[in-house]
Amino acid sequence: MPSAVKRVFANIGELATATGSVAACGSRQGDVKKLHAAWLLERDGVIEAVGEGDAPAADETVDCRGKLVTAGLVDCHTHLVFGGWREHELAWKLQGKTYLEILAAGGGILSTVRETRQASENALYEKTRGLMAEMLRHGTTALEIKSGYGLDLETERKQLRVVGRLKAENPDIAATFLGAHAFPEDMDHDAYVDLLCEEMIPAIAKDGIAQFCDVFCDDGVFSAAQSERILNAGRRCGLIPKMHADEIKEIGGTQAAARVGAISCDHLSETGADGIRALKDGGVIAVMLPATSFYLKKPYGDFRGMIDAGVAVAVATDMNPGSTPNLSLPFAMTAGCLYGRLTPEEILTGATLNGAAAIGMADRLGTLETGKQADLVVWDADNLDQLIYRYGTNRAAAIYKRGARKI
Ligand code: NIG
Ligand code: FE
Repeated sequence: MPSAVKRVFANIGELATATGSVAACGSRQGDVKKLHAAWLLERDGVIEAVGEGDAPAADETVDCRGKLVTAGLVDCHTHLVFGGWREHELAWKLQGKTYLEILAAGGGILSTVRETRQASENALYEKTRGLMAEMLRHGTTALEIKSGYGLDLETERKQLRVVGRLKAENPDIAATFLGAHAFPEDMDHDAYVDLLCEEMIPAIAKDGIAQFCDVFCDDGVFSAAQSERILNAGRRCGLIPKMHADEIKEIGGTQAAARVGAISCDHLSETGADGIRALKDGGVIAVMLPATSFYLKKPYGDFRGMIDAGVAVAVATDMNPGSTPNLSLPFAMTAGCLYGRLTPEEILTGATLNGAAAIGMADRLGTLETGKQADLVVWDADNLDQLIYRYGTNRAAAIYKRGARKI
């Protein structure tokens, strides 16, 4: 609920924010504005002003106790609706089995598909709601959620209905149809692509819950040509294209993403100079998922090369039961900073403004500026560097959504 009062957040030790309303904003990704001894004034859930020095008068004052305040984090890539967990895969990983070997043996995504098909909509709803509450406690105030553990129309719809119910409670959730997450067991691959394009995508678009259509374009999964066909079918039905690409191998995903006008291309841990150029020329946001690289013990990707080439980089968790069962975006930020060699400022932009841009919400979210929604986190950290540095424990101390305290 929007707050009716005029509220001032006073005694902010460091207010750190990206600026602008589109990814990278034509400026450098690391151009974060920092105010010290600062305040933020909000009314009816919208930021009226920010400044340094004496805080203006208001109906209510929140004492931020000299701590760091940032915009609420935006997790633009999650697979949050799923049945079961996959902790049994840990032992297989330790034996050296790869992600694709586990998938080929009927494990991995396909085992989660079996459990998701069996789960009731209500059970999935309760579970996802609980995970979202945990994400909120770690500072995530807006997020994207994908389907993709049904691989049949009925279950994909069930997953998206769960997202729709959560969206009714929190409009800052983006829904993505990921029917092209894997090939269903015992189904001809081309026949599944036909089914996706001719039946599933039109039906999902008609339901009106999903805004985005995604595909896992990679070695052993959907080819670049199949991915392009699927995303074009989605586009014709009004679904904005997104893509998982270059997680395992470069097979032309970035170029296909650029050709279909994808809003983002995600993973990109294997992307080289040609792929980076394709993203830049296509104006595609690169969504990097460093916590996935950490858990799969794989390369992190050329974050630095992307930013230096002028590509807008977002950072997300990729939270899912297989490749990264982690919902802390601050953890992903620290991993992206260290292994992607980005500055804390660049990472903050990636986890706020550019994350919001990757799900079409940058007009209202992602920065602490006049006119933006008053979604903010007071961190138990003195400054941005300290937030990134003190990884591994939850530093989110208080979380406000549209000006109202949530945690
Ligand atoms: O983004 N790469 C494809 N899909 C997910 C993993 C899903 C799973 O293993 O359940 C990902 O990493
Ligand atoms: Fe993913």
